[in-house]
Amino acid sequence: MKQRKKEDAFSERFKKHEGELKWLYCELYNNDVNAWNYFAGMLRRMWEERPASLRTLDAEREKNPEWYLGHALCGMQLYTDCFAGNLRGVENNLDYIAECGVNYIHLMPLLESPKDRSDGGYAVSDYRRVKPELGTMEDLERLCESCHLDGIAVCLDFTLNHTSEDHEWARLARAGKKEFQDRYFFFDDKTIPDIYDSMVPQVFPVTAPGNFSWCEEAGKYVMTTFYPYQWDLNYANPTVFNDMTETMLYLCNRGVDVMRLDAVPYIWKSLGTNCRNLPQVHTLVRMLRIVCEIVCPGTLLLGEVVMEPDKVAPYFGTREKPECHMLYNVTTMATIWHSVAVRDARLLSHQLGRVFALPKEYVFLNYIRCHDDIGWGLDYGYLSCFGMQEIPHKKYLNDFFTGKWQGSFSRGELYNDDPRLMDARLCGTAASLCGIESARKAGNKELIETAVRRDIMLHALVFTLSGIPVLYSGDEIGQENDYSYTADPEKAPDSRYIHRGLFDREKAALRLADGTIENRLFSALSALSDKRKGMGVFDNRADTWVIDTQNPAVFGMGRYYEGEKLLAFFNFGDGAETFSPGEKETYENLFTGEKTDADSLELPAGGFAWLRKKY
Ligand code: GLC
Repeated sequence: MKQRKKEDAFSERFKKHEGELKWLYCELYNNDVNAWNYFAGMLRRMWEERPASLRTLDAEREKNPEWYLGHALCGMQLYTDCFAGNLRGVENNLDYIAECGVNYIHLMPLLESPKDRSDGGYAVSDYRRVKPELGTMEDLERLCESCHLDGIAVCLDFTLNHTSEDHEWARLARAGKKEFQDRYFFFDDKTIPDIYDSMVPQVFPVTAPGNFSWCEEAGKYVMTTFYPYQWDLNYANPTVFNDMTETMLYLCNRGVDVMRLDAVPYIWKSLGTNCRNLPQVHTLVRMLRIVCEIVCPGTLLLGEVVMEPDKVAPYFGTREKPECHMLYNVTTMATIWHSVAVRDARLLSHQLGRVFALPKEYVFLNYIRCHDDIGWGLDYGYLSCFGMQEIPHKKYLNDFFTGKWQGSFSRGELYNDDPRLMDARLCGTAASLCGIESARKAGNKELIETAVRRDIMLHALVFTLSGIPVLYSGDEIGQENDYSYTADPEKAPDSRYIHRGLFDREKAALRLADGTIENRLFSALSALSDKRKGMGVFDNRADTWVIDTQNPAVFGMGRYYEGEKLLAFFNFGDGAETFSPGEKETYENLFTGEKTDADSLELPAGGFAWLRKKY
C-alpha cells in the first residue's frame, strides 16, 4: 500500500480552521460556493508563494506564539521619505533606530498613490508597487530582511476600506464596467446617498464633507467616506474580499510582520446604520485573523480602531475566536493630553483603571503622538461629575493646545474645525504641545526645563503601561511643528502635516551634545526603553493598579510581577507637588538610585518617578 504523504503545514493549519472559516465565509456570502472555492485555492497559492525564510520565521513564532507579548518590543512610527529619503535610506539608518531602543518600526504608507490625491498615502492606486520615489518592492523586501537580521519587526499599513480613484478597479468602474462598479458603491441619483448621509457621521467635515462624490465619467455617485478620491470598497461582494485578502497576503509575503488594518471599523456599510463597527466587520476581521494563522502565522494584525472605548476592545475578539493581535490605546492617549491641559489626573486614573481591568493578553500600542490628529474622545459622563460638559470642554482643550488660552504653553493647530459641530480636533508635535517650542522661542530657560520634563514624563507614562510603547519619529529629539506645510497647496488644507515634517538631522546630531534639549530627550527616552526591556515587572502578565496619591495633579500606578514591584508617579501639576501614596516600604528610585519610602513624596512640575522594590 502506498504510504500517505505527510501533510504540509498549510493543509494541517487549513484543516484546523476550515470549519469556522467556511462557516463565516458562507454565512456572509450567501453560500457562494464558487467564491469560497476560489478563496480557499488562493490561500494555498499564497502559502506556496511564501518565501522559505518567512516560513521558517512562521515556524519559530508558532512555537513561541507570545513573541510579541512580554516587554521586549518598543516601536517607532516613521515616514520613509521624511526620515531618510527612501527605503534604502531607512535601511542605512537602522543603527539610529536601534540606538533609540526601537525594535519595531511602522513604515507609513509607501505604496503607489497619486501624488496630489493621496491622503498621506492612504489612497492606494497599486498595492503591488512602492511609490517610485521611495524605491521598489525589492527594496522593501530587502529592508524587511535587514530588519529581521537586526531583530526589528516591520509594520505596514493595509488600507482596506478604500482604494484610490486611480486604482485599476476604479478606472474600470469609471469607464462604466458594471463588474468593477460592483466592487464599490455606485448610485444613479442622490436618493440612497441622502439616506446614508442622514445617518452616517462625517470623518472630514471640513476638508471632505459628505460621504459621497459625483463621478463625472460614470455619471453616478460613488461612496467616499474619507476624501473624494478614496472610494469605499464593497465587502458585501466576495470578489472584493477575495482579492483584498490576496493583496494583504502578497504584502505579508514581502516580509512584513505587522499588518495595520487601516480604518477597519468602516469596512462594512449597511443602509439604516451609521456604518461603523457593524457585526460584519468583526466577521471580516476574524476571517483575516484565521487567514494569517493558516498562511503566515508569524504575522500580526494591528487594528486601527479610533473609536469610543466600548467599541475598541471587541476588536480583540474572544479568547477562542481572536480578531486583532494589537490595538491602539487611543482613549488613553487623548486622556493623557486632557490631563496636561487641566493639570488634573483624575480622569486618567479612571480611564487606566478600566484598561487595567481588561485581560492581560490584550496588547495595546501606547503612544502620545502619531501621524493623525488628536480627537477628544473622552469619558464625558465621568467628566460631568466635575461639571465639565463635552462642547465647552472640547473648546477649552482646543484653546489650550492652540495657545489661545491665556498662559498656555502649547502650540498646536486645529483640525477639521466645523463651527456647526464644535468638534474640532488637534494637531502638533509632542514637543510643541508640551511647551518646548514656546519656551524656546521665548528664550526662557526655566520654562524649557519644565517643558522638557513634561515631554519626558508623558513618554515615561507610555513606557510604564503594559503593551508596546510606540514613539513618533522626531519626538525623541523634540522636533517642533513644521509650519512649512501651509506653503504647499496640497498639504495646506490638512493641518496634520504640521507634525509630519522632515526628520531634522541637525537636531538629531545634537542628541550627542550634553545638555541640549535633544540630548535630554533622547537619552531619557532610550534609558526608559532600555530599563523597560531589562525588567520583568514590565511584562504584560504583571498586575497593574491605580494608586490614590491623595493629590489630583499626580497620577500613580503600580505593577507587580514575580517578586518585583514598581510604583510610578507623574506630576501633571503646574508646580512642584507633594503627594501621599502611603507606601511605607523602602524603594529604589530607578533614575537617581536613591533609597526612599513612598509614604510622602514630591515631584517637580512635569516630573515622574519609577520606584522599585524586590521581594
Ligand atoms: C486612517 C489613517 C488616516 C487616514 C484614514 C483614511 O485613519 O490613520 O491618516 O486619513 O485612515 O485612510
